[in-house]
Amino acid sequence: MAKYELPKLPYAYEALEPHIDAKTMEIHYSKHHQAYTNGLNTALESLSSELQNMELTKLLSSLDKVTENVRGAVNFHGGGYDNHTLFWNNMKPNGGGTPGGKVADAINSVFGNFDAFKEKFSKDTGAIQGSGWGWLAYNSQSKKVEFTTMPNQTSPKTKGLIPLLGLDVWEHAYYLKYQNKRPDYIVAWWNVVNWDEVENRLSKV
Ligand SMILES: [Fe+2]
Repeated sequence: MAKYELPKLPYAYEALEPHIDAKTMEIHYSKHHQAYTNGLNTALESLSSELQNMELTKLLSSLDKVTENVRGAVNFHGGGYDNHTLFWNNMKPNGGGTPGGKVADAINSVFGNFDAFKEKFSKDTGAIQGSGWGWLAYNSQSKKVEFTTMPNQTSPKTKGLIPLLGLDVWEHAYYLKYQNKRPDYIVAWWNVVNWDEVENRLSKV
């Protein structure tokens, strides 16, 4: 069975300062993401070789095939592994601004305009009770983008959605710098969004 490895962080820990501080990035990446990676590998050990070798996106969208006693662990650690990989790459130094291209068209057609989308994304992600993520995702049934929140580490892929842009609002993502002020973290996070990566993901759906 192939083991998952912590994917390389595409920039230095301090690269997203001042919006996301270096210490948070270091712990988030080297401790939390590593823990999901390890947890996924452990969960996979009890699966059939067919499921062990299944591409992770497919596995997360086929959780009904996973035996019940490890389904929760695959959902949590597999989602945690995948969500964080997406998250590091949907941020970059000197990011932010507004998207162009297909992403702008897709957002405008659903939300009216970028500001309305940003407001909804910020408000509803900020309002997640406990730990979770806000996502802009592509729905291949409706052929449109949509906003959704997901609890804990559950991946949007479990609902058949293709994640385009994710925001982690677990306390581990912001508490060292922002303490209880999750809305301030969200405001700052928009300054590091990597819209080129979002465009790249949308172009592949
Ligand atoms: Fe996280």
